[in-house]
Amino acid sequence: MAAAEGEKLTNATPPVAVSGYEGQGRTCYCGELREKDAGSKVVLMGWVNRQRDLGELIFIDLRDRTGMVQVVTDHNRTPESFKLAKKVRSEYVLCVSGTVVKRAPGTENPNSPTGMIEVMADDIKVFNRAKTPPFVIRDEAEPDEGLRMRYRYLDLRRLPMLRNLELRHKATLAIRNYLSRKGFWEVETPTMTKSTPEGARDYLVPSRLEPGSFFALAQSPQLFKQLLMVSGVDKYFQLARCYRDEDLRADRQPEFTQIDIEVSFANEDRLFALMEGMMQHLWNEVLGVEIGLPFPRMTRDEAMERYGTDKPDTRFGMEIHDITGVVRESGFLVFRNTVELKGTVRAICAPGCAGMSRQELDLLTAQAKEFGAAGLIHLAYLPGGGAKSPVRKHLSDEEVAGIAQAAGAKEGDLVLIVAGPFEVAVTALGRIRLTLGEKLGLIPEDKYEFLWVTEFPLLERNEEDSRWQAAHHPFTSPVARHAHLLESDDDTDKARMRARAYDLVLNGVELGSGSVRIHQRELQDKMFRLLGLSAEEVEEKFGFLLEAFEYGAPPHCGIAFGLDRLLMVMVGASTIRDVIAFPKTAKGTCLLTGAPSQVSDEQLKELGLCRKAEKE
Ligand code: AMO
Repeated sequence: MAAAEGEKLTNATPPVAVSGYEGQGRTCYCGELREKDAGSKVVLMGWVNRQRDLGELIFIDLRDRTGMVQVVTDHNRTPESFKLAKKVRSEYVLCVSGTVVKRAPGTENPNSPTGMIEVMADDIKVFNRAKTPPFVIRDEAEPDEGLRMRYRYLDLRRLPMLRNLELRHKATLAIRNYLSRKGFWEVETPTMTKSTPEGARDYLVPSRLEPGSFFALAQSPQLFKQLLMVSGVDKYFQLARCYRDEDLRADRQPEFTQIDIEVSFANEDRLFALMEGMMQHLWNEVLGVEIGLPFPRMTRDEAMERYGTDKPDTRFGMEIHDITGVVRESGFLVFRNTVELKGTVRAICAPGCAGMSRQELDLLTAQAKEFGAAGLIHLAYLPGGGAKSPVRKHLSDEEVAGIAQAAGAKEGDLVLIVAGPFEVAVTALGRIRLTLGEKLGLIPEDKYEFLWVTEFPLLERNEEDSRWQAAHHPFTSPVARHAHLLESDDDTDKARMRARAYDLVLNGVELGSGSVRIHQRELQDKMFRLLGLSAEEVEEKFGFLLEAFEYGAPPHCGIAFGLDRLLMVMVGASTIRDVIAFPKTAKGTCLLTGAPSQVSDEQLKELGLCRKAEKE
């Protein structure tokens, strides 16, 4: 074994192998070896997970992207390798040649896939040494997330993270194969573009050649995919990078990937069938799980009624019930007043929770209040009969029985009630339903419940200036029965209009959204007028698309799935960051590269930009 040229060896540093050895035929990966391989000669390359020195024997757990295997060196058999093995440390990069042998009885490790065998080393070479890593690289250890991000390449060495990357690769391959088989073409669209109407803040890119002008990084390929339909592409898809400058959450990144789809001459039924097939293929190929088709459908209004959210987790019941009719004449004023004010009284039944503690009830009440409810009323149906509640004395026996019947409660159950405006009451109970579902272990973890949520509102009020805006985007068709309302000035009509917009929801997570688009100029003009956009604004923002629509736009519809979100559910990760190789932090920064960072004055000058302080 030769030392690298010019290198000074000390007792503590083993020599590194001369270059050129790395190509010398690795025979297999560490994690692939099994009992049937006993007797084979192997050459392995990987990282030292751990070294244990037992005096006459040294054990090294060698790791690569497939897993780990135990390597043994024996003082008497191979003294040279033994000497070297004594000096290796965690994360050194080795080449090990040796023979696979069965472990001695009693020393097997049934918890490891390679635990029945070990590799008796004939020769060990060190490709490279490693500094002590800032955290121990172990599958089960979850280091501080800041450190994981700063040293992402080390975090990714952990096998669960490598598994996620592998799964992502398999998933994108399966998606591409499926869509290609169904006649879709993958077409790339610009990342540097004009701002699209998705509604988040844009990331801007200053133009050097046109100082003062900016590109926006695409929030989605929405307008381009519609133009591709005008071009006759017919079936388009793209694994598209999208950029949105919005507040981040566990399931959001400023830079993410969409499986973006558009189809001509199709309606919801045709698109849904294609997408259901894609999900079935994906689950089968990647997880080996069979999922049943077709997926159920539910309107957004029904989802709100029954689950208090437009993305219901339908893996468990505990639905919301309307008890307004039962408490209309109640002696409890909160109920009666709510009904008089055209509000609603809703309830959920927590099975077997009649004995819930004061403290737990307080936590649920606080949660209801977070979602705008004035309070949370509870009614416990005691085992053996009778009901207990702080408001029991205001309720008649008929009401108590009526509530139990309407909410599906029996002895031993707890009914939780919110009175108020519809959205507030159902949203608060919807949230409590999820908390209790989790707490009571009602949510089966190995179940995949897909659901199409359809007929979203066409318009919604902007939270800041309460102006009406498109709930999905302005190219979304109204449902046929509401098309005539496009010309109405009445706010109730605007709130009432439903769109041919849909989401695909999986286990309570919104995987994707889409719509049947407006493809006729006249309808589109009405829509813009409804949104209060002036002719100039329309021309400035969307002129190019509208012009294209005048040259024969086919009817078309589409959808985009968040690939990262989809993978997050597939691997059961709690954050989207675990399925992205190099994600941004919750503050939108990259701790590894230090981006975003300052740029030189020279660069700014070229772009015709100056810092605010300089300007002032
Ligand atoms: P939408 O804006 O609903 O629709 O986005 C579609 C899907 O993209 C995912 N997604 C995100 N994933 C990670 N981080 C984010 N910041 C983020 N934002 C969105 C979600 C979401 O369901 N052009 C339309 C689609 C269409 O009409 O065809 C669009 O982009 O999973």
